[in-house]
Amino acid sequence: MNRKGIVLAGGSGTRLHPCTSSISKQLLPVFDKPMIYYPLSVLMLGGMREVLVISTPRDLPRFKELLGDGSAFGVEFTYAEQAKPEGLPQAFTIAEDFLSGAPSCLVLGDNLFYGARLGESIRAASQAMGATLFAYHVADVRAYGVIELDAAGHVLSLEEKPPQPRSGYAVPGIYFFDERASKFAASLKPSKRGETEILDLARCYLEDGCLRAEKFGRGTAWLDTGTAESLLDAASFVHAIQSRQGLMIACLEEIALHQGWLDAVSLEARAASLGKSSYGHYLRRLAEAASANP
Ligand code: TTP
Repeated sequence: MNRKGIVLAGGSGTRLHPCTSSISKQLLPVFDKPMIYYPLSVLMLGGMREVLVISTPRDLPRFKELLGDGSAFGVEFTYAEQAKPEGLPQAFTIAEDFLSGAPSCLVLGDNLFYGARLGESIRAASQAMGATLFAYHVADVRAYGVIELDAAGHVLSLEEKPPQPRSGYAVPGIYFFDERASKFAASLKPSKRGETEILDLARCYLEDGCLRAEKFGRGTAWLDTGTAESLLDAASFVHAIQSRQGLMIACLEEIALHQGWLDAVSLEARAASLGKSSYGHYLRRLAEAASANP
């Protein structure tokens, strides 16, 4: 069965107040496009066309307005509410009907990934059985879920925000689980923080002997955007790469065009609807190039 995508874009965004007092963090811009475009781009690069967007009852209507049914991007969006931010695994209980027995990939709405061979890594994880986490070296791992691997890449331990970490590797906000995720998620108890924890869900797979981990190399960028500083860093990163290359990061229509999910005519119509923005201009150039070389 085809793997389906989930973007979790709820939460309270308290570290970004007052910016997020009245709007979802994941609708804020990261340079020239809304934050949620970045995690969506990763699912689309991985070949996932059926995507569930989960957000708060307050913000879900805004996401629907922004993304619609997905046809503008050659994909299919479904929407669901998370009444309260009670933990990442709740995404899988909310998604149970949507998944209807399919394996899934959950990506957090405030995570940005970029790098050579990213699509390849995502597609490989998508083909694997059981569960796959990624591991990424960060300067200070204590604020993250930490993963310890042996020399052969087997998972030795998983710890949530440990004061004395066993490794320098954090678990980024992209997780692959098989069809058992909703059932396992429903069995989890909240941690001391009062939320269910994604690493507890991963531990169900570890105990079952079917948890894999892949390292993202140093050529891959993983940025999260939960604080004012990290949001500015992410925007500067996107600006620096895009202005140097003249190519966009996370242009959803461009990915859809490469995947063969959209054609030049629909791209042109989409560009027209975006008016004078730099994003609109970029789509117009893509559409012209695609119709010149169909
Ligand atoms: P966090 O950054 O941990 O939480 P938050 O977004 O509420 O922000 P803050 O800490 O500033 O209050 O969440 C990571 C991502 O997961 C983010 O995209 C929001 C999302 N999320 C949910 O949608 N539901 C949840 O229950 C949780 C815990 C997070």
